[in-house]
Amino acid sequence: MLVLGIESSCDETAFSVVENGTRVLSNAIASQIDLHRRFGGVVPEIASRAHLECCVPLMRQSLEEAGASLDDVDALAVTRGPGLAGCLLVGVEYAKGLALRRGKPLIAVHHIAGHLYSPFIGRETNAWGEPTDGPASTSEPYLGLVISGGHSSLVHVQGPTEFEILGETLDDAVGEAYDKVAKLLGLGYPGGPLIDQAATNGDPKAFDLPRPVMHTKDFNFSFSGLKTAVARLVEEREAGGHNALDEQFVADVAASFQAAAIDVLLKKTGRALKQTGLSRLALAGGVACNRGLRAAVAKRFAKIQVAIPDPEYCTDNAAMIAGLGYHLAAETSKDANFGMNAAPSMNLVPAAKWRDG
Ligand code: KG4
Ligand code: ZN
Repeated sequence: MLVLGIESSCDETAFSVVENGTRVLSNAIASQIDLHRRFGGVVPEIASRAHLECCVPLMRQSLEEAGASLDDVDALAVTRGPGLAGCLLVGVEYAKGLALRRGKPLIAVHHIAGHLYSPFIGRETNAWGEPTDGPASTSEPYLGLVISGGHSSLVHVQGPTEFEILGETLDDAVGEAYDKVAKLLGLGYPGGPLIDQAATNGDPKAFDLPRPVMHTKDFNFSFSGLKTAVARLVEEREAGGHNALDEQFVADVAASFQAAAIDVLLKKTGRALKQTGLSRLALAGGVACNRGLRAAVAKRFAKIQVAIPDPEYCTDNAAMIAGLGYHLAAETSKDANFGMNAAPSMNLVPAAKWRDG
């Protein structure tokens, strides 16, 4: 079964063809980073317009790369939410038009559920190390650590569409903190990869930054205090005078910030694994591209099965949407969902409400 996935919830337009929920035949992505860079963040109106311009060429590219035509596609899957309203609308309306004209079932997918499904997709093998031309072992539960620009959550994943949220961020998402700290340090946008790079030349012990809520018994996160602590450091340094943000200072702050963020993420993840008794862990979301984090997770949780998706499946993509869509196809009728609306603040649980909740 071939599913064409469509993703447009933030600043990446993506189309992908996935076979039987696992094998990625194409993963076409148009990033808008260059358009938003001079504003230091995503401008929703600019993002929506760029999505609109990218839909047709990207759909063609994804079909061509997959060696398939629209006739070969069995169903369409689209990110219905959560995300930026105007951005989601472009993908949802485009998918509706395509489904109506071609008589294809249209499946509504939750963006974070897509991220949580990302370990199961790949070209030859998935992040669990399984070949993607056979059935993936999606029935074994795992702990999902979703770390992106909009979310930081620990989720007990019991099946592709069954979740228990153990904890979430109380304020900023970890990716948001990366982006804001990068801005404070004058590194530019998007901040995550730039901090990742700067941190490699810095001393993680140079500054003793706070680890907010690290020792609380729940599984929630908080990153705004950490970001504010960096802001204070930068202010003090700038008050000190000329060439305040020199390369070594920036590298040391980046490394110290990253060490604090990783400490908190690892601590809460370790505790959640212990409490749930789960022996599988999966990272998901853009921050899971972070090299320091990937290395720290692999080391700390070496005794359990850990899935760390390839970077192209950590950041926003449509392969995770198409892959998960496969598992929802059976419950989507052929003419359902033409009244579907974008849902900017859609809930993850329960999945039964993704269609019309
Ligand atoms: O999952 P994603 O592409 O979009 C959302 O759903 O939010 O995540 C984007 C976030 C941004 O905050 C970006 O700075 C961060 O992921 N990111 C990273 C790295 N690459 C992307 N953060 C830390 N290290 C990285 N290498
Ligand atoms: Zn995302």
